[in-house]
Amino acid sequence: MSEKRKILLQLDTDSRSSSFDSVVAVDSGVDVLLCHSDVTPENVVDIVYGAIFTRPAKHLQSTAIFVGGSKVAAGEEVMEKIVGTFFGNHRVSVMLDSSGANTTAAAAVVAAMRHFDAGDEPLAGKSAVVLGATGPVGRRVVRLLASSGANVVVGSRSQERAQEVAGEISAAVEGSQSITGAATGEASELAAAMDGAELVIATGGPGVCLLGEEARKACSSLRVAIDLNAVPPEGIEGVGGTVSGEEIDGVICYGAIGVGGIKMKIHRSCVSSLFDSNDRVLDADEMLAVGRSF
Ligand SMILES: NC(=O)c1ccc[n+]([C@@H]2O[C@H](COP(=O)([O-])OP(=O)(O)OC[C@H]3O[C@@H](n4cnc5c(N)ncnc54)[C@H](OP(=O)(O)O)[C@@H]3O)[C@@H](O)[C@H]2O)c1
Repeated sequence: MSEKRKILLQLDTDSRSSSFDSVVAVDSGVDVLLCHSDVTPENVVDIVYGAIFTRPAKHLQSTAIFVGGSKVAAGEEVMEKIVGTFFGNHRVSVMLDSSGANTTAAAAVVAAMRHFDAGDEPLAGKSAVVLGATGPVGRRVVRLLASSGANVVVGSRSQERAQEVAGEISAAVEGSQSITGAATGEASELAAAMDGAELVIATGGPGVCLLGEEARKACSSLRVAIDLNAVPPEGIEGVGGTVSGEEIDGVICYGAIGVGGIKMKIHRSCVSSLFDSNDRVLDADEMLAVGRSF
């Protein structure tokens, strides 16, 4: 009986594990939450052994791992080590959401998809611009948009960084869609990048305005604008944090808190789905699929 209780190991790369992630875990139906902090690729192996060698194989789906923490790159390294430690059927389902980057990126793309033509590929062939796209959230948004068939402009203050990120993601995503880098820091550069854009997603750092009102209004092709920055001033000027699918100047808009409802639903559904089997590996792409299923 006790072997079937749902146990989640919450592995945090920070020195204190996230109370946010703990609360979501409990709200997602986890029976027992075991929190570990300061987790690294070196010390995670013993934690994984503890997860995979304790219960019989038929009950391993009742144990799962969540990787979190404020540093996305550190979480990715831990996740890679965890998956590499599994062998045969000695594995449990695992989910990576350091800094909320995966669930946030997936939620933004789910929100965007709602407002383009219905069908299996609502973003196929659409023109999207991601501002501040060189951060962990932006990179994931670019990847998800591109793998959904959109042509994506990767925006950054630096042309070099933008092209580097565009090149990395182009190499990782299949399909004929274009992924190009563009400097967007100056007004003229931003206007050129936004020319013809149907979707813009601002993924800049907290409190950074990347698209002013004038530039937003000047983009006549724009249909959907999504801002993921919750800290004032807005990342897209005029789109308040709580805006959720409302029309502003003829464009459907979302602010960070507006997207937050979808993000929370994706987070809870993903934690819950970890216990469906013992072999799920949930990264941004799988989270997008979960979000699209709502
Ligand atoms: N709702 C949620 O749960 C949630 C979860 C995670 C993140 N977020 C929000 O999503 C956004 C993106 O997160 P992130 O961690 O990917 O952000 P980040 O790494 O802090 O910043 C993303 C990019 O923004 C650009 N940037 C930073 N400071 C700037 C400045 N002063 N002026 C202009 N550009 C600047 C940088 O690009 P360049 O240097 O290349 O220009 C940077 O790579 C943040 O606002 C974050 O708060 C929300």
